[in-house]
Amino acid sequence: MNDLKFEMAPETEPERQYFFIEQGAVLRKQKEEELKHPLTYHVTTFGCQMNAKDSEKMKGILNEMGFINCDDEKSADLVLFNTCTIRDNANQKFYGHLGSLNDKNHRNKDRITAVCGCMMQEKGCVEKIRSSYKFVNIIFGTHNIYKLAELVCLKLAGEDFVCDVWDKPKDIVEDIPSIRKYPFKAGVNIMYGCNNYCTYCIVPYVRGAERSREAKEILMECEKLASEGVKEVMLDLSDELITVMKGSNKICRHIHLPLQSGSSRILKAMNRRYSKEQYLELALKIRKELPDTAITTDIIVGFPGETPEDVDETIDVIKKVRFDGAFTFIYSKRAGTPAASMEQVDPELVKKEFNRVLEAVNKESKEMAALNTGKTEDVLVDDINEQDERLLTGRMSNNMTVHFPGERSLIGKIVNVRLDECKGFYYVGSMV
Ligand code: 5AD
Repeated sequence: MNDLKFEMAPETEPERQYFFIEQGAVLRKQKEEELKHPLTYHVTTFGCQMNAKDSEKMKGILNEMGFINCDDEKSADLVLFNTCTIRDNANQKFYGHLGSLNDKNHRNKDRITAVCGCMMQEKGCVEKIRSSYKFVNIIFGTHNIYKLAELVCLKLAGEDFVCDVWDKPKDIVEDIPSIRKYPFKAGVNIMYGCNNYCTYCIVPYVRGAERSREAKEILMECEKLASEGVKEVMLDLSDELITVMKGSNKICRHIHLPLQSGSSRILKAMNRRYSKEQYLELALKIRKELPDTAITTDIIVGFPGETPEDVDETIDVIKKVRFDGAFTFIYSKRAGTPAASMEQVDPELVKKEFNRVLEAVNKESKEMAALNTGKTEDVLVDDINEQDERLLTGRMSNNMTVHFPGERSLIGKIVNVRLDECKGFYYVGSMV
């Protein structure tokens, strides 16, 4: 009977998915009658904001199907893992996590275990999960997350294993249900995928070529979010932005400008399309034109062929720009990328050089943070402090965190906070 209904599914999207959301709700109810409890779900997200955003969409779909969100991964009826593969330790972390679930409880035939995201787009990963983690019964990739309702329907209708991984993206599908972790802040995609092909990076291979969304769709989404009470929307950077930022008090004072390396020679081998001098020019222009704006960055140490002299150049940029924060990574060899076949650096040397970079970054960002002590800032209140529930945790316009005493009712509001004490990477303050 169910198969017959599935054949009636519309061909066009998103209509097709709304059909499966309805069908899925019926199948979920039948399952609930059989199991005598409401069906719950849990989504675990690894990796970046793109994955976080995808997870919000998938949670929206599961909510629409009538599944109930539950905090406990071990007891949920449907568990979904959204994976990351940017560095090899991301893969290892995920396999470790899956391994820890490989028990009788998880092999329960009524449980649905779904795995999706960047790792699934990588050669060999699906096969490895099929052979080593047999309790996984739905697998899909990055290009078809909007199809979650359809895949869950197939599973609920009796298929043992559902696998749907596409090599390439098809159309961008808009208007799929989504939820937000916080009612007052949201991420908005302006594009998907990447065309830069940095030689170390796996992203273009697992997320596909760059596709921009229509400007009008982006605007419409931002307007809708604002009308729903959202106060913070996260987008991306363009050159023109510096001028626009100068004249606007609605744009947060934070720019993430990934450096990767300060050596022009290494930047060229990375296919980054800018030199040390060009990077410095842009970063120092931001410092001059937007002095209250925090600049953060990403740095990779140990790219093939990198020498201590190249690392000296990176440290030189760190000292000149004085980053407010930096994510520092040890280069990780990713299969299929051009850098994987270049001559790799001795891991012992990489460790040493990495520590030098880390020290330089920490010194600068600590000193930069201390400069704000005593100032009063607008702070968007995010949440109750995780360690001490008498405190609130919020972020300043430059994205730095501040903890201060206050009432729960202020969550989602913008308040004035004096920065009393700098603790390195965060502040302790008081409301004024
Ligand atoms: N090894 C180490 N770091 C990497 N990144 C991307 N690919 C790799 C890799 N193979 C880092 C870059 C990027 C951030 C998201 O991850 O610094 O900006």
